[in-house]
Amino acid sequence: MSEIKVILAIESSCDETAAAVVKEGRTVLGSAVSSQIEIHRRYGGVVPEIASRNHTLAIENVVKEAMEKASVTPDDIDAIAVTYGAGLLGALLVGVNFAKGLAFAWKKPLYAISHIKGHIASNYIDSTLTPPYLCMLASGGHTAVVHVKNYTDIELVASSRDDAAGEAFDKVARVLGLPYPGGPEIEKLALEGKPSINMPAPKFKRGEAPYFSYSGLKTFVINYVHNLTQKGKEIPRADVACSFQKAAIDQMVTVTGIALEKTGLKKVSIAGGVSANKHLRESFEKFSERGVEVHYPKLQYCTDNASMIGAAAYFMIEEGLAPTPLDLDAKATVPLK
Ligand code: KG4
Ligand code: ZN
Repeated sequence: MSEIKVILAIESSCDETAAAVVKEGRTVLGSAVSSQIEIHRRYGGVVPEIASRNHTLAIENVVKEAMEKASVTPDDIDAIAVTYGAGLLGALLVGVNFAKGLAFAWKKPLYAISHIKGHIASNYIDSTLTPPYLCMLASGGHTAVVHVKNYTDIELVASSRDDAAGEAFDKVARVLGLPYPGGPEIEKLALEGKPSINMPAPKFKRGEAPYFSYSGLKTFVINYVHNLTQKGKEIPRADVACSFQKAAIDQMVTVTGIALEKTGLKKVSIAGGVSANKHLRESFEKFSERGVEVHYPKLQYCTDNASMIGAAAYFMIEEGLAPTPLDLDAKATVPLK
């Protein structure tokens, strides 16, 4: 057993500045997330330099808030964990450097954690989930099914050949005139519509390894909307949102279903910003009819947060992750493993 129990985690990979104090990987003692959504909304997406500057403004207060909520002082913290990638370089550097400063000043070990492993670990908070299992990861940058062998080792089973699912949600929302981020907006609008429009889906040949593809689906919606606009016809926005959401999620169910059969695993979880989607969560419920245990992160841990980074760090340290030297650099991309 590791001596490290209470971890202060920092996350700044995109447009959320976040800090959390996490105990033994499953209990969040205090968490703070400062979202820049309102700031980036006027540009229709995240502007990297603006994100970095706002992280710089927010980070001290966010760390203080998480520690105050947890009622801890630096003496109670055993280690610092920070997202070092994947994400926007300038944004990541703010969190990485703040974490380095704290580790140096407080003489605590520093652990570099991948954002992807953090999303997967969001499933451990307030839960009893243990590896091995399959995780369907869908965020703004990634869509994949991974075999989580233990807390450290993950193996890619299927991934997107083109766009990520979250990216498609955001682009389709934009063409429907909805604000950034598009996922929650599409979900809301879809409630008023019907899945009446047939949308394209990847067709796997027999025996072919399954994969995701969102580029064709996105282009289909863009063309559909533009065609109707050119003809001066009304766009059935709610039906478009509902049909798109269904098509996007059907892919996730199909690919995960094949992966479950292929691996023989009997446990599945979802992770990443898109895992907040209610239709996705309900669709995955079907796997429990096949005797598969289905796990979901709590809603507040689906989109970017630092609690998931603290959870990942705890279990990876248990499995022997070494502290990182203070010359740690941020990485725009990180290997999935
Ligand atoms: O994991 P995340 O917060 O950031 C990245 O690591 O990318 O994921 C953000 C993505 C965005 O594309 C957003 O539109 C999508 O997750 N998202 C959703 C929902 N909430 C967030 N997509 C569908 N339904 C939602 N409820
Ligand atoms: Zn994320």
